[in-house]
Amino acid sequence: MTVIDQIYQGDKDDKRAGQPRIIALANQKGGVGKTTTAINLGTALAAIGERVLIIDLDPQGNASTGLGIDRRNRNYSTYDVLIGEVGLREAVIATAVPRLSIAPSTMDLSGLELELGNARDRAFRLRDAIAGLNHNAQPPADYTYVLIDCPPSLNLLTVNAMAASDAILVPLQCEFFALEGLSQLLQTVEQVRSTLNPDLTIHGIVLTMFDSRNNLSNQVVADVRQFMGKKVYDTMIPRNVRISEAPSYGKPVLVYDLKCTGSEAYLRLATEVIQRERELRTTH
Ligand SMILES: Nc1ncnc2c1ncn2[C@@H]1O[C@H](COP(=O)(O)OP(=O)(O)OP(=O)(O)O)[C@@H](O)[C@H]1O
Ligand SMILES: [Mg+2]
Repeated sequence: MTVIDQIYQGDKDDKRAGQPRIIALANQKGGVGKTTTAINLGTALAAIGERVLIIDLDPQGNASTGLGIDRRNRNYSTYDVLIGEVGLREAVIATAVPRLSIAPSTMDLSGLELELGNARDRAFRLRDAIAGLNHNAQPPADYTYVLIDCPPSLNLLTVNAMAASDAILVPLQCEFFALEGLSQLLQTVEQVRSTLNPDLTIHGIVLTMFDSRNNLSNQVVADVRQFMGKKVYDTMIPRNVRISEAPSYGKPVLVYDLKCTGSEAYLRLATEVIQRERELRTTH
């Protein structure tokens, strides 16, 4: 490495210093585990010391509800942020989990695409909102991870998430049609990379609702691993009833039942995500 390279590398590191890693949970298929993964990966990362902000970018608001944020307490939402009404920090609400916060959403978000019309910066609203997030921030609001929960669509909201992110994490349900739609998602990532965000990478694919007694589940795992290779995390999230019960109590599964197989899996996924982060940093 030449001196110039070293200086340039140092410059790049400085720019990164103090910035959170931004990861979007995306898959245009509905009900594959995006929100469940945002909530529980976020909780697991917070449990091992990271300072995490979840951005709810789905008008359904499931991440907000699943973390116990009452609709009446959503004074400002991601809609207000993207429309330019308030800064992101003003929309953030602390959750019952230490070091885990959320910027909640409301149904208003479903009208955003129409409201923004052809505004030139419409794909960069979220990126710009996140840009100053950690500036002069006091702990625990100096976030190390931002997780964005996307809606089940490749619409302007998901494009905003991809334009704002360092990487995307794709939850894939272990069912027959799992791979269908994945190539479309990967194509969209390519498009975003070539136009809006050249640094976007695929962090990994997490297989969800895995049922080892089901032959089909095993077949899907084999196919996805063959097709996507190392991009697939070793950790698989099992189908677990505690995971599906937890949101109705407004709690992450790790709080609802720390010892269940679902909680254990999300803790393993968090360590794998952090491990992959280290590898990504040393190779870039
Ligand atoms: N590992 C699991 N075991 C059992 N149930 C699960 C598991 N993961 C998710 N679920 C349940 O499956 C449903 C869909 O999950 P989730 O809401 O996380 O998917 P999503 O991709 O965010 O959906 P949408 O596309 O509508 O936003 C929910 O009822 C959730 O509780
Ligand atoms: Mg969801």
